[in-house]
Amino acid sequence: MQELGIIRDAGVLCRDGKIAWVGPMSSFEGRLSDDVPELDGAGAVVLPGFVDSHTHMMFAGDRAGEFGMRSRGKSYQEIAEQGGGILSTIRHVRAASKKDLKRSTAAYLWAAMKEGTTTVEIKTGYGLDMDTEIRMLEGIHELREEEMATVVPTFLGAHAIPPEFRDDVQGYVRLVIDKMIPYAGKKHLAVFCDVFCERGYFDAALSEAVLAAGKTWGMLPKIHAEELSSAGGAELAGRIGAVSADHLEHITPAGINALREGHVVAGLLPGVSFFLNHGYAPARALIDGGVAVAVASDFNPGSCMSYSMPLMMTIACTQMGMTPEEALTAATLHGAAALNLSGTCGSIEVGKQADLLVAEIPDYRFLAYHFGANHIRHTIKNGTLLEIP
Ligand code: NIG
Ligand code: FE
Repeated sequence: MQELGIIRDAGVLCRDGKIAWVGPMSSFEGRLSDDVPELDGAGAVVLPGFVDSHTHMMFAGDRAGEFGMRSRGKSYQEIAEQGGGILSTIRHVRAASKKDLKRSTAAYLWAAMKEGTTTVEIKTGYGLDMDTEIRMLEGIHELREEEMATVVPTFLGAHAIPPEFRDDVQGYVRLVIDKMIPYAGKKHLAVFCDVFCERGYFDAALSEAVLAAGKTWGMLPKIHAEELSSAGGAELAGRIGAVSADHLEHITPAGINALREGHVVAGLLPGVSFFLNHGYAPARALIDGGVAVAVASDFNPGSCMSYSMPLMMTIACTQMGMTPEEALTAATLHGAAALNLSGTCGSIEVGKQADLLVAEIPDYRFLAYHFGANHIRHTIKNGTLLEIP
């Protein structure tokens, strides 16, 4: 993670949306024909587009009221127990049309691209009934075709227990396993299946059942693990070979071993700990323990209302003991690994998608160091220069 492979005075040649050549400009001469448009990055840093491997970017309504309540001392869990939190977003999403959900998500996607994000995973989980979960999933799936950013759809039907099933978690899990997952699987709507493994939500046994059903239908497992308590999600992730286990604020040493043994990417979400004023995941213990660490935003209206990957990198460095080099790797190549996409994006390598950023900074460390400002001058997606509307 420390080794960035920096090339000074470099050039990148993109062809058909892919990286065709990268190297020092001195060996670049003679390769350009007249019809190849050139973009001058003199004095700037060129880096791979950010891969935001964990978001809840499709939602309706807002939780600004709860933000105010939290600033006056109420906790995220207290608000959730009183019917706010995820359940309040669910009420808004159930009332929203697919068109409206797609419109607001597309606007966020553009805004995130302006800040350098070129690949975004988006989860369902604010419907929690058959119609709304599928509406979300179809919407996310359609954005994949319609939007410039690479969108990766994840089915998160087991995100919370809907009010209709308040006293019947098993019944809700049956609905997820018997109805939602087979429908999504048959239509190939989701790449991943995720679950919120947490006390008061889905315990490890129920989480395993959901992820196993997802696997049967071709969805790779991901998991929200050890966020509010040590609920065994990391051990489960290791055992079933999840692609990533995310959050991990309360991971135990045994959990760290399980992730390493199972080759599970640890998806850290610095913005959540920052925004909720919770403890941070033990990034150092994970990295030093041989686990591949990714950093993502978890963009959602409740626990992190930000999709700024550079901000996540700043928090990773100042609060979690990660180096600027580790933070950059975590936000790009390891993010790609958390989405099973490390062969196609996350670094500037020949044959990968030409997802590039031109950042107006003296060197890469300024991305995290000079925080709260957008340093991205250009975002290039699949070789196309983004025209910011
Ligand atoms: O990743 N932990 C569960 N889900 C989200 C929060 C979603 C919300 O509060 O709306 C998370 O933090
Ligand atoms: Fe999340």
